[in-house]
Amino acid sequence: MAEPVAVIDESGEPNPYLMGVYAPVQDEITAENLKVIGEIPKDLNGVYLRNGPNARFPARGRYHWFDGDGMVHAVHFENGRARYRNRYVRTRAFEAESAAGRSLWTGVMENPKDNPFGNTRGLNLKDSANTDVIFHRGKVLTTWYLCGAPYGMDPLSLETLGVETFLDTLTGDFMAHPKLDERTGELFWFDYGPRRPYLRYGVVGAGGRVEHCVELDLPGARLPHDMAITAGHAILMDLPLYQDMDAARQGRYKLTFNRELPSRFGIIPRRGQAHEIRWFEAKPCYIYHVVNAWEEGDEIVMDVCRVSRPAPAGSGSPLARMISYLKLDARMHRYRFDLRTGRTREESVDPDHNTEFPSIDARLTGRRSRYAYNVSVKDAATNLFDGLVRYDNVTGAKEAYSYGEHRYGSEAPFAPRDGATAEDDGYLVSFVTDEREGTSEVQVLHAADLTAGPVARIVLPRRVPLGFHATWVRADQLKGGAG
Ligand SMILES: [Fe+2]
Repeated sequence: MAEPVAVIDESGEPNPYLMGVYAPVQDEITAENLKVIGEIPKDLNGVYLRNGPNARFPARGRYHWFDGDGMVHAVHFENGRARYRNRYVRTRAFEAESAAGRSLWTGVMENPKDNPFGNTRGLNLKDSANTDVIFHRGKVLTTWYLCGAPYGMDPLSLETLGVETFLDTLTGDFMAHPKLDERTGELFWFDYGPRRPYLRYGVVGAGGRVEHCVELDLPGARLPHDMAITAGHAILMDLPLYQDMDAARQGRYKLTFNRELPSRFGIIPRRGQAHEIRWFEAKPCYIYHVVNAWEEGDEIVMDVCRVSRPAPAGSGSPLARMISYLKLDARMHRYRFDLRTGRTREESVDPDHNTEFPSIDARLTGRRSRYAYNVSVKDAATNLFDGLVRYDNVTGAKEAYSYGEHRYGSEAPFAPRDGATAEDDGYLVSFVTDEREGTSEVQVLHAADLTAGPVARIVLPRRVPLGFHATWVRADQLKGGAG
């Protein structure tokens, strides 16, 4: 195994997102026969995969948490045993930098004009595929939040399979957070950028080809992070947080939150044309992640983690501003869009608890779901997920579980138990990293009873840095079933 090397940026300031629980690891390993505290359930079969930034070389210029090279950490559960593996996503940029032996690209906080090549919209940013991870038609797809190319990976070996072109039908880019409807096999996506068309929406059909793509007009360039689907519709976002284009022309990365503008949600039939989109207005906010959405009569219900103050006040160094902008401060929130009247109703679901990175039973994406499992965001300067919160949207009950002092988790996807009969009949799986020990483990919890604590803790031979999104791939999907 290679020894870790210090990965720093050129600002001269210590960057917390390169240190401690965030510090990248330098080696790619495979580990079996892991020590288990408790017992791995034999009815938990599939793969837990988590993506995240893992800077391979010292940064050029200032480092932003979104800049690091994508690395997937995975645990394969099979008949009561677990295997761990981690691999970089071998993007074109990763390969070019590997050949050069150093960073070639600056990050999102720097002027990208000197970078080698960009995405199809001409943005010369490094597409690291470090943000999201989903399973689609036998492959894991890793994607980047600012739009780039989806990269395929083998779900077991984590070998990078190259750019996913959907049988040569994808034109342009593809953002993080596509939505899969397992019942129809369709994959829904968007991409956005600083020039017209500011937003595109598309559908990959069950056969794996892009079958539908429309250009949607917005008042200007926006930064949507997520989308939603229902049984009949897709929901796109126009939120009043966007990049300041005057600053961008001067090579500076600056976000603006315009409190005078509403949040707008565009609801379009799944295969609808651009003129069929209907925009619903709500109070200004920013939204990173949708929990789920579904149809109830004439209404569309959408639950989200809503950020009411996305642009923190104050100034300071670019690094200080990056840290304060990155800090998640979100609350569970429900929208009801009335397709008959065009009106929006919105209400807070949980005004008290700062929770994010929601997960549901993925088979219910776009259909009514009852339970959501969010990470609890610690009150700290950087993003630390100190536990899990389970929401029941029928009874309104909330159940919280804490990892304990100085222990931080990841997004914890729902993993249905083999032969599950109820929506919460399964497990939540997360990496948990101990800040003081510099060690990590995998925790498996009963989704229906978080307070009972983990049924299994799988000790890993290495620290797993904190990261972004995770997914669960069921054993029946690995065998070529749905998905
Ligand atoms: Fe995200």
